[in-house]
Amino acid sequence: MNTLPDSKTNPDADFEPARGYRPGPHRVAILAAVFTWPLLFVGGLVTTYKVGMAVPDWPQTFGANMFLYNFFQAPWGVFGEHTHRLYGAAVGLFTILLMVDFLAFDRRRWMKWLGVLALVAVIGQGVLGGYRVRLNSTMLAAIHGVTAQAFFGFMVALCVLTGRGWFAKARPAADVRKYRSLSASGLFLVYAQVVLGAWLRHYGDFHALVVHSILAFLVFGHLSAVVIRVERHKADVPELLPAARAMGLLLILQIALGIGAWWLLRPYDGVARPVTLLAALVRTGHQANAGLLLASAVVLTLRAFGQLAGTADRPGSAGLGARDLEAVA
Ligand code: HEM
Ligand code: HEM
Repeated sequence: MNTLPDSKTNPDADFEPARGYRPGPHRVAILAAVFTWPLLFVGGLVTTYKVGMAVPDWPQTFGANMFLYNFFQAPWGVFGEHTHRLYGAAVGLFTILLMVDFLAFDRRRWMKWLGVLALVAVIGQGVLGGYRVRLNSTMLAAIHGVTAQAFFGFMVALCVLTGRGWFAKARPAADVRKYRSLSASGLFLVYAQVVLGAWLRHYGDFHALVVHSILAFLVFGHLSAVVIRVERHKADVPELLPAARAMGLLLILQIALGIGAWWLLRPYDGVARPVTLLAALVRTGHQANAGLLLASAVVLTLRAFGQLAGTADRPGSAGLGARDLEAVA
């Protein structure tokens, strides 16, 4: 058995102050992530109501400059799709702000590059959305949905990487490798489920529903195991507790919304039917909540890799903490 210093009684095991932490970039990253999530919902509504082609051109809207187009009198489909475009542009502006802030105030070179990458990603996301319309491509619609989730996950990752905890000295904990492998594989499974969900949602394929449901069991089992493990060892890995608890709640909500979506879509025969408000909220909620679930998996994984260190008394235990990662970078 492994004997570990108790951080409450052993002052040596206490955190070092978070040297190098700067609140500015962290605040901007949080604001950007919080601002991005509703876009998943608004984009999701476009898909739920099947109005992705309501505005047939891009980057113009019916030949007009998209920022000057008067969409208030427009039919619902055009209103929804155009609002989504404008919101996308606003997220783009926010991302520029984030990049400038990282370039100016974050001392780490690789963080500056991540700021640039965020801008490239948001532009790519907009172009994908635009070409989904120009080419009238369902495949691009599905890809746009999947990359949107990844973009949101990336914005949340920036929050962790700029956070105070990331700058604190990694704390030794038992079985660090286990937490790392469990959280990373959980992240992988959730993203795989997001990809399957997009296949299901955009193609309405019954096989996709079967595979998505089977994977749901796996995701449920795996994430529950992670959450229970962290909860049982919370004194040893307090850094993981908030993300694990959030993951547990989001997982239950996700399964409930998934079952709700399936119920409302029955008999799943591919025939288009009018979308009720309840169906729109449940189906789009399932899609957008998946973004939050993914975000909790991102936070958990980053924390397990960056904020926990292997214990010296375990031969071969992984000892990389955030600071070591910084040194490598
Ligand atoms: C930051 C930028 C953007 C993000 C994060 C984003 C996100 C999303 C999301 C999450 C969906 C729902 C996908 C699904 O349910 O599977 C969606 C749908 C859509 N987005 Fe975006 N979007 C962005 C920008 C744009 C832009 C600039 C356009 C320009 C035309 C666009 C066009 C569309 C269209 C047409 C759909 C509906 C696709 C369908 O037919 O199902 N998006 N978007
Ligand atoms: C366990 C975790 C789950 C995750 C992470 C997840 C994720 C997703 C995502 C992200 C989408 C939409 C993808 C997109 O449009 O981009 C989706 C669609 C869907 N999921 Fe899940 N899902 C889960 C569990 C379930 C369960 C248990 C069911 C119940 C059978 C379910 C049923 C559905 C249905 C019916 C759709 C299509 C909804 C529509 O067409 O509007 N999901 N899922």
